Amino acid sequence: MVINSKTSLQETLEIARKEGKIIGLVPTMGALHDGHLSLINFAYSHCDKVVVSVFVNPTQFNNASDLEKYPRDVTKDAEFLRTHNPETIIFTPEVSEIYSGKVESESFDFGSFVNYMEGEFRTGHFDGVGSVLKRLFEIVKPDKAFFGEKDYQQLLVVKKLVEITGQDVEIIGCPTSRNEFGLAQSSRNFRLTDSELKEAELIYKALSKVKKMFDTNSIKEIENDVEKMFEAHPSFELEYFSIVKEDDLIPTTNKEPKQKYRAFIAAFLGEVRLIDNMALNY
Ligand code: PAF
Repeated sequence: MVINSKTSLQETLEIARKEGKIIGLVPTMGALHDGHLSLINFAYSHCDKVVVSVFVNPTQFNNASDLEKYPRDVTKDAEFLRTHNPETIIFTPEVSEIYSGKVESESFDFGSFVNYMEGEFRTGHFDGVGSVLKRLFEIVKPDKAFFGEKDYQQLLVVKKLVEITGQDVEIIGCPTSRNEFGLAQSSRNFRLTDSELKEAELIYKALSKVKKMFDTNSIKEIENDVEKMFEAHPSFELEYFSIVKEDDLIPTTNKEPKQKYRAFIAAFLGEVRLIDNMALNY
């Protein structure tokens, strides 16, 4: 079922809520793929009613061409869900339902979560994400909302958002869905050619190698190794590689005992920007 208006969505959900149903929200920007499907299935294992929002949020793009080229096809998304999870509600609000007046972000204090990586390279991105999610949580009032660990930094930012806003929604992280070669599922993969899709596996290979090296090599050695791997593939441009502490997302140059670490990569393959991350010692 596709619903565009906030009022009819709320009426439908009110009935479900009165029946004691647990409501889950899977926020997306559309171009649904198997990664979204695994999030939706995860949501169904925790909730009775699942809403998938499809909204390409203008305020989280710091690059106009990325926003313009972002794949949009609500009919295809609706068809995808009809085939896999027909009882799911798709909520496709207009920009004016989300942003009344000026289309601009609110600013949030997400602390160290936004100082590096996506926060550093995409100025204002997380304020945009926070603004749209705050509004979606207000409209849908979900009991639980589901986010993929592929966007791990986003997941921690969203947990911080609900702490700041006091919104009563449980934020649940879901494991990254990968293709058979390890490439993380992403709507941006639709923009890759067949040969680029094959090349894109380098990101997962690099992260897997980092995980293997982590116990025995220094951070510097690991960083050099990753840089060399990407230099050997000139169609890639490595934007950042960072090993960070899992709890504050601050990059590290040395390893402390009992600390959990995660590695993050962002790289351009042609014009397409891809990101991924992996837990290293937990
Ligand atoms: O991860 C995304 O697709 C977006 O950042 C989200 C959470 C739907 C907010 O626009």
